[in-house]
Amino acid sequence: MAEMFILPKPTVRLLDAGAGVGSLTAAAVAQLAARPDAEQPSSIEASAYELDETIVPDLSRTLSDCAAVCAAAGIEFSADLQVGDFVKLAAEQLEGGLFARPARHFNAAILNPPYRKINSASDHRLALRAVGVETSNLYAAFLALVVKLLDDGGELVAITPRSFCNGPYFRPFRELFLDAMALRRIHVFDSRSDAFGDDDVLQENVIIHAVKGAAPGPVVVTSNCAPGDEWTLRREVPFEEVVQPGDAERFIHIVPDVVGAQVAACLSACRLSLPEIDVEVSTGRVVDFRAKEHLRAEPDPQSVPLIYPAHFAGGRVAWPNARTRKPNAIVRCEATESLLVPRADYVLVKRFSSKEERRRIVAAVYGKAEHAAPVVGFENHLNVFHRKGAGLPLDFARGLAAFLNSTLVDLFFRQFNGHTQVNATDLRTMRYPSAAKLAALGRKIGEAPLDQEAVDALVEQELIEMSRKAGPDPVGAKRKIEQALEILKALGLPKGQLNERSALTLLASLNVAPRGSWMKCDAPLLGITPMMDFMAKHYGKTYAPNTRETVRRQTVHQFVQAGLLVENPDDPSRPINNPKWCYQVAPAALDLLRTFGTTAWEHQLAGYLASVQTLKDKYARARAMTRIPVTLPDGGEIKLSAGGQNP
Ligand SMILES: C[S@@+](CC[C@H](N)C(=O)[O-])C[C@H]1O[C@@H](n2cnc3c(N)ncnc32)[C@H](O)[C@@H]1O
Repeated sequence: MAEMFILPKPTVRLLDAGAGVGSLTAAAVAQLAARPDAEQPSSIEASAYELDETIVPDLSRTLSDCAAVCAAAGIEFSADLQVGDFVKLAAEQLEGGLFARPARHFNAAILNPPYRKINSASDHRLALRAVGVETSNLYAAFLALVVKLLDDGGELVAITPRSFCNGPYFRPFRELFLDAMALRRIHVFDSRSDAFGDDDVLQENVIIHAVKGAAPGPVVVTSNCAPGDEWTLRREVPFEEVVQPGDAERFIHIVPDVVGAQVAACLSACRLSLPEIDVEVSTGRVVDFRAKEHLRAEPDPQSVPLIYPAHFAGGRVAWPNARTRKPNAIVRCEATESLLVPRADYVLVKRFSSKEERRRIVAAVYGKAEHAAPVVGFENHLNVFHRKGAGLPLDFARGLAAFLNSTLVDLFFRQFNGHTQVNATDLRTMRYPSAAKLAALGRKIGEAPLDQEAVDALVEQELIEMSRKAGPDPVGAKRKIEQALEILKALGLPKGQLNERSALTLLASLNVAPRGSWMKCDAPLLGITPMMDFMAKHYGKTYAPNTRETVRRQTVHQFVQAGLLVENPDDPSRPINNPKWCYQVAPAALDLLRTFGTTAWEHQLAGYLASVQTLKDKYARARAMTRIPVTLPDGGEIKLSAGGQNP
């Protein structure tokens, strides 16, 4: 994180809010002290705020260590340790009350703020409101206060949940932040990290680097799987791609690869807002715990359908559902009348999807032809698309549901939404095809349930600009990566190889492009660099050059051990470090993988798995035969690979 700072300042006034034991301050100080003399500051003034008194002795020791590091580097150092509540202390300073310390201004801040909801009536909320900060989460409050405490030109580096990038609750914060700060770098951890997840809600984390008062400019977007993982995607994007001009919500889109950019290009024909297609979206009116006495497990003559996400079945609503523990019905009476809507065709979208769900947006049509009740209740865990409270034309509803269920829309949605919640605001911010196009799509979709591939094919056929820019096919790329992961799992590769890097390595080794077929895959002889070139060309994934060794050590090596790849089949005696060192998919694996997706796959897989140990032994013997036995002075023997020149 600390290396994101530019900080060409002679005096660095560094703020660490929620400092814990002071690891971030220490990292920043170490980074500044390690710079060449000409780029070092002459002094560092560190301010650390920490609420938890039990950590303070450790924090104090860290600050003393920082002083020692600075002394050794010839940098003046002073520390100001504030034990107390940063929100209150900072708000008091900013407000400049009678007894407040004068506001200290900083030109650098590094933080990993606490993450917690702030109640609307809490002291924190009032203190924040007094200095013009409106937010319901503590981490955004910390960021907002830090923004206010920074001087113009001051730099912020922070690791936080990604949730501030979208959603209605963070809008005032986004406004405050984006008006004051120019984003320079965003790093996203691609893994479905649960670092912030004590519940089952997916929460991605980001590191941001931003400069106060600077003009918006290109943003470097990077991503990797987890802290410490060297496999990094990197892309520089114009600011207008990160925060789209004219977006009143100011969502922050994070697109670290070219395929992601291609998603937006594919959807460029879909430009209309919901009002422009005469549609509204609202959350379901029935909040079940408030209507407890009116809920019924089973329908009866006094009740009408109550629809939950549990009723979704392949793009439709299957009601009643005998297997759900949720009520199936709600009594129709005076108390519930305002919660019910007339029988009609609606599109419903789950507000919360589970981490395991393949898509974030899961839509279904509630069709009046299938449900005879005169009114229906939609539970609050649903978003409901309607037309001024009434239903939608059926073809249009089917087309809209298919559009929302498409892989392309899912890919687009993930660019601005880093969690599993789908808010009505998210759906309002998206852009849609024309009503006529959606209806045409709906007519093609018809009644029969369709699998994902069929939905994607129809969406592409009906809605995607034929003139879309040439480049990798995002939907095909996503599907191929998922399939490659399925294969690696089926082959029993360990968790460390069940990731995008390994999936792409397999695809490159088999020469399978996003629109390619497994049946026609082949087994070229490839070195690591050509594999990475393939990933960039066909899958739009450009990795930082230093990730080459990660591919070799953390994927290819394991593929060789698993018998999936063989080393130098053209010249098994090739010395290590020879620039022609290469890999090829083993013949038995190639035969197997050509059956993926066919009816022969399961059977062939069983046969392959039964024989793979024998194959691995065979390949290991072949490798061993090319090694040179060396007898050690103690009589022991080791085998060395043939030496070669370092290229
Ligand atoms: C996520 S931890 C980060 C610690 C440290 N910055 C790091 O990265 O290791 C957040 C820290 O903020 C502290 N904290 C929580 N609420 C605070 C508040 N209102 N004022 C100051 N510190 C607070 C916690 O005690 C905790 O040490």
